[in-house]
Amino acid sequence: MTDTSPNPSWGGRFAAGPAAVMQRINASIGFDQRLWRQDIRGSTAHAAMLAHCGIIGAKDAADIAGGLAAIAAEIESGRFAFSEALEDIHMNIEARLAERIGEAGRRLHTARSRNDQVATDFRLWVRDAIDGLDAQLADLMRALAERAAAHAADPMPGFTHLQTAQPVTFGHHLLAYVEMLSRDRGRLADGRARLNECPLGAAALAGTSFPIDRAMTATELGFDRPMGNSIDAVSDRDFALEFLSAAAISAMHLSRFAEEVVIWCSAPFRFIRLSDAFTTGSSIMPQKRNPDAAELVRAKTGRVNGALIGLLTVMKGLPLAYAKDMQEDKEPVFEAAEAWALALAATAGMVRDMAPDTERMRAFAGSGFATATDLADWLVRTLRLPFRDAHHVTGRLVARAEARGVDLAALTLAEMQEEEPRISGDVFSVLSVEASVASRRSEGGTAPARVAAAAAGWLDRLP
Ligand code: ARG
Repeated sequence: MTDTSPNPSWGGRFAAGPAAVMQRINASIGFDQRLWRQDIRGSTAHAAMLAHCGIIGAKDAADIAGGLAAIAAEIESGRFAFSEALEDIHMNIEARLAERIGEAGRRLHTARSRNDQVATDFRLWVRDAIDGLDAQLADLMRALAERAAAHAADPMPGFTHLQTAQPVTFGHHLLAYVEMLSRDRGRLADGRARLNECPLGAAALAGTSFPIDRAMTATELGFDRPMGNSIDAVSDRDFALEFLSAAAISAMHLSRFAEEVVIWCSAPFRFIRLSDAFTTGSSIMPQKRNPDAAELVRAKTGRVNGALIGLLTVMKGLPLAYAKDMQEDKEPVFEAAEAWALALAATAGMVRDMAPDTERMRAFAGSGFATATDLADWLVRTLRLPFRDAHHVTGRLVARAEARGVDLAALTLAEMQEEEPRISGDVFSVLSVEASVASRRSEGGTAPARVAAAAAGWLDRLP
């Protein structure tokens, strides 16, 4: 349905309204209404500044503040009628303000453009999203660190190439994700610091002839300072791209954990079990217990990556300053923020829910000649063999054990001495899983004492 009259906000030079399809492609109200809180906050600060600088009267500013608060209440309670003919959230709110308070409402847009307005609103929105996601990341880190503390000494097979490599502890493995998520928080914090400058006052692109006070609005909105160049202020969306990059990297981390959950839950592994709360059944196979939440966390990564590539593509090659292309900046950011938040919440839920089968993990920790490196290290340490030679001797012993279908520790001393006569019975002390993990005492290593200390350190530092 199209209004045939020109747009009431900017239609002075227009004789007719837009074609139906023009209105549909032009309007952003369907998605940018999510910016309403930020828009009202920005407009309230702008009006107060205009009055402070003597650009509008104090009474007008008070009426504007009151009118905007009333509109906030209308939107909050679902009574606000959003109009596609009014294009976007900015003009919807401004038109309603004029409806409610008359002339004062029509003074609000003095010394401002939708270009600096939307840039401000969007920065505020992304900043709020960053704060929420940061808290979720910290919560997930805490959930992982708590489980890590409890399993600091429980061995599991460590993998490279998804082949048994060396025993590690389950706690150590979980803490690897805590480190990744901590860097994800760091990326958010870096992006937040860079985005926290205020575009307001850049107006359309050139600044304004009114004697505004940009520091005042910047401070009021919690920004560190006004942006330094009015053209840049209205035309870059690098802050949104940084947010999406941080989201893509974090979603990648979450997808790796999700994949491990899927593997650990599978029948051949059975390292962990997820309860009814985090699994679904199959409509045909009654025995099934599917880790759908983990699979969907793994899949959300696609959406987040798509959002990043989508916005990079929108921005690439755009001449300065604002272009309507940039209206396409919001949906990918909203979508990615939502997917990321949901993935974080689901992952934290699974981490708190999962029941590890530590017996089974321990049993597999020693399989696949997982302590072969310990044997090689023993040859280096005790017999002073060069590591390369020790590697060969161990390789021959592994081949023997494999041929007999037994573990390294089940070889007899005589068999070992056939490969290297100087091997003594002491070698068996390093071939157990417990001895192996306990020996990895190097900084950042998997020795239970190291893992317990690392987990405690995280739990201490986390909010
Ligand atoms: N809805 C627009 C957007 O999100 C607001 C800015 C419009 N500016 C303009 N010059 N038409 O980008």
